[in-house]
Amino acid sequence: MNKPIRKAVLPVAGLGTRFLPATKAVPKEMLTVVDRPALQHVVEEAREAGIEHFVFVTGRNKSVIEDHFDMAYELEDTLKRRGKEKEFAALMADLPKAGATSFTRQQAPLGLGHAVWCARDIVGDEPFAVLLPDMITMGSKTRQSRCLAQCVAAYERHGGNIIAVEEVPWEETHQYGIVSVGRDYGDTFEITGMVEKPPKGTAPSNLYITGRYILLPEIFAILDKGETGAGGEIQLTDGMIKLMAQAPFHGVRFDGRTYDCGMKLGFLTANVAFALARPDIAPPLREELKRLLGTN
Ligand code: UTP
Repeated sequence: MNKPIRKAVLPVAGLGTRFLPATKAVPKEMLTVVDRPALQHVVEEAREAGIEHFVFVTGRNKSVIEDHFDMAYELEDTLKRRGKEKEFAALMADLPKAGATSFTRQQAPLGLGHAVWCARDIVGDEPFAVLLPDMITMGSKTRQSRCLAQCVAAYERHGGNIIAVEEVPWEETHQYGIVSVGRDYGDTFEITGMVEKPPKGTAPSNLYITGRYILLPEIFAILDKGETGAGGEIQLTDGMIKLMAQAPFHGVRFDGRTYDCGMKLGFLTANVAFALARPDIAPPLREELKRLLGTN
């Protein structure tokens, strides 16, 4: 039987340069999608997939993330005294269990592979999930479950390492990590290769790595070597390519949509999509959008 996936690593130490000046003093993972930080959407996704322990790899100027996942005594007390029971209950429901979070610092943003490696002692010798917190996912209408839950289902079926993918237009493949497809099962498939940002016209498929992974702990010994790749960074993809020689990788065609909140367009689209999925906001928002687009 496959070991259960109990821990998730959330690397939040990046600089968010594509989102300046918003990210000058506020971590990009704390920018709000509708009414909660992007990072909270991701933690909710992880919880839904059965994750029990959240390992945040943080950096300088990110202490607000720690505060967000802690009690806020004065606020909670004020809410109670003012009879704001609903708001208080919502805050309590979101609060991770005591001891269910760990925070470690990356010290310098040396790349995603390095950020994941920083979590090695907290993760220990068990398979674990990685969620890129600037990517937020919404399950399709039929499937509903978000991306990590679909990855865990694939892990239960195949074991080994799992990577979530989604289609991109062929002409955009050079901007992403792309996988090669081996034996195909439809919603899942064997991964036979990976390439980070392939030159135009050379991508082996149009399936890009979206930012949800289940990895075996053997990845840490590989990342331990600190080898740098594209952009002089320690790349997670390079580590995974090496791990492919030791252990199988399967891809999950995510049944839903991933929004890249590290980019302005993805962030704005996510806000509209998540608001339209909320029955309390969707009807008036639809009217506003029609007005803005001049179709009313
Ligand atoms: P990105 O490359 O999208 O994030 O990394 P970034 O570096 O913050 O963004 P830009 O390019 O400067 O705008 C994906 C995720 O990995 C984390 C980031 O915080 C982000 O959530 N990351 C990246 C780290 O934790 N450490 C790193 O060294 C690099």
